[in-house]
Amino acid sequence: MKQNNLKVAHIRHLKGDYVHLTLTYDESMEIPKPGQFFMLKTETTLIARPISVHNFFYVLKKGYVEFLFKVVGEGTYDLSKKTKGDTITLWGPIGNHFPVFEDRKTALLVAGGRGIAPLFYLTTTLFEKGYDIYLFYGVKESEELVHLLRLKNLCKKLFITTEDGKKGKKGFITSLFSDSISQYFDTREQPSLFDERSAQSPVCYVCGPDIMIERVCEISLKHDIETYISLEARMACGTGVCLGCTVETAGGRIYHICKEGPIFNAKEFYCL
Ligand SMILES: Cc1cc2nc3c(=O)[nH]c(=O)nc-3n(C[C@H](O)[C@H](O)[C@H](O)COP(=O)(O)OP(=O)(O)OC[C@H]3O[C@@H](n4cnc5c(N)ncnc54)[C@H](O)[C@@H]3O)c2cc1C
Ligand code: FES
Repeated sequence: MKQNNLKVAHIRHLKGDYVHLTLTYDESMEIPKPGQFFMLKTETTLIARPISVHNFFYVLKKGYVEFLFKVVGEGTYDLSKKTKGDTITLWGPIGNHFPVFEDRKTALLVAGGRGIAPLFYLTTTLFEKGYDIYLFYGVKESEELVHLLRLKNLCKKLFITTEDGKKGKKGFITSLFSDSISQYFDTREQPSLFDERSAQSPVCYVCGPDIMIERVCEISLKHDIETYISLEARMACGTGVCLGCTVETAGGRIYHICKEGPIFNAKEFYCL
């Protein structure tokens, strides 16, 4: 896959070791779709790092791609040290993308921690398509929450949980998701969750830690909600060659997350 050198247009250091990186896009490159990712090269690590597209937009006909990443090791630390005008070598967009259905109008998004990175781009895309968006967004510490104001404007409802209890509801997002969905579907006790239009065929999109994805899928699939998950693995090549990112489905099929993913229908992994 062709490598490109993109210039840093903007870099912002957020709380909770998060970095918001904006690169000036190259017109010759394919426009990324929500759920796709790029491999970003760093100076000190031999292997590039996979980072999801956080947003893509135009200003005065110039394209910009945004990434949101948490500094967790050498590679992300290197990227965080870039400054405006520096060049970053990357390749992509890689992988498949979240399916967006023209005939649906309701989306349930569940983001855990840095899982908000790809789901933010999905949120802006679904908003433009006229979807009612119900976003369940959970983090450990309240300072990790990003873009709350923008998300509030884009979503019909925004549900927040923090483990430190300083913002939103104290606890796990899986509990809030479970309570909200179960109450609505089992007893209809909470009609305020969906209006009539929204209650028809919602699609669920999930990104976050594996355990969170598993719990959310248990609930969504139990209620027959079509669910798409974004999976992660350590990646070396990002092109399907090194076999480093394989996952096995419930039916024993082997996929490369970088090639056949990172987005999968949850039914393939979680059979109830
Ligand atoms: C398709 C895809 C999209 C991603 N998108 C984003 C994103 O948008 N924002 C973001 O912050 N991160 C994202 N990640 C994770 C990101 O790639 C890793 O955090 C990064 O590669 C770590 O590199 P490092 O050199 O800083 O840390 P390393 O020194 O390589 O690792 C530091 C620690 O993080 C753990 N780690 C590294 N990679 C992963 C992983 N993939 N899953 C779980 N644990 C890991 C390691 O086990 C280690 O404990 C994505 C991963 C994939 C596969
Ligand atoms: S990262 Fe090498 S096969 Fe997926």
